Amino acid sequence: MMDNDPAQRPKSLKEYVGQERLKEKFRVYLQAAKTLGQALDHTMLFGPPGLGKTTLSYIIAYEMGVNIKVTSGPAIEKPGDLAAILTNSLEEGDVLFIDEIHRLGRVAEEHLYPAMEDYKLDIVLGQGPAARTIELPLPRFTLVGATTRPGLISAPMRSRFGIIEHLEFYTPEELAQGLIRDARLSGYGIVDDAALEIGARSRGTMRIAKRWLRRVRDFAVVAGEKEITLERANDSLDKLGLDSAGLDERDIKLLEAIIHRFSGGPVGLDTLATALSEDSNTLEDVYEPYLIQLGFIKRTPRGRVATARAYEHLGLPYGNYYED
Ligand code: ADE
Repeated sequence: MMDNDPAQRPKSLKEYVGQERLKEKFRVYLQAAKTLGQALDHTMLFGPPGLGKTTLSYIIAYEMGVNIKVTSGPAIEKPGDLAAILTNSLEEGDVLFIDEIHRLGRVAEEHLYPAMEDYKLDIVLGQGPAARTIELPLPRFTLVGATTRPGLISAPMRSRFGIIEHLEFYTPEELAQGLIRDARLSGYGIVDDAALEIGARSRGTMRIAKRWLRRVRDFAVVAGEKEITLERANDSLDKLGLDSAGLDERDIKLLEAIIHRFSGGPVGLDTLATALSEDSNTLEDVYEPYLIQLGFIKRTPRGRVATARAYEHLGLPYGNYYED
């Protein structure tokens, strides 16, 4: 089993676990597009990392019966990069997937607008008075953009997407379903309770659940076991440094920093990032969403605050106080 092993990626909506409301809507959008014989409208997928935005894009292409080209915002710096992708073997109805679309360069973004709206690309040849613009026709394609940062998508960009959807964190039961599926595909057994326990400690995130499944499997393999039991799962997850809510050392450090160093908050994101020697984007995109989902921290206009639940989880009496 490899990380994101393409062979294990679900191909169809039917195989894709969870995100029930999203799937219900996509079944309609996909069927309508196919009935009308049109490309699916441009689609924007929002959501924290690891929830399956890329996987869903492959599924969209599979369900539409078209090809998918995959790129990312940072890979498209100049309009020429965009032109290369859009004019290179993109066919009628194909999906162009741009991950981290919030990191697309500003000039490239402006060139993307006519491509999305009118299926044409304006290419400027030469410079100065001799410069000429040629218009390149494009096939009717579907742009699927994915981002972890809805706030960084410009209004003109957002307005050009016909479908805008959010992916949700998975329940432990949904994660368990995904893990049982993966275990079956890789020919390694897992009991339902063990899958549920891994699911419960995976921050609501499919990618993390799949990663812990592989590490727990390692412990099981070394112990000479053919199947992952609940005991093995619990013991391995403890050894991996995950607590009962699936928080790791860094999450705990973050909560402790707010509580002990900033008397429970509010503390500004940048101050907190500096205190933890972390990058503030990583804090905001990777650590905070799940802590907020658990109700352990709150974002307020004056900064981050640790909630009573966080104190309780850490076994601390609630209140604003400094330790040491
Ligand atoms: N495998 C099965 N379901 C999945 C999902 N929702 N996301 C990612 N991988 C999956």
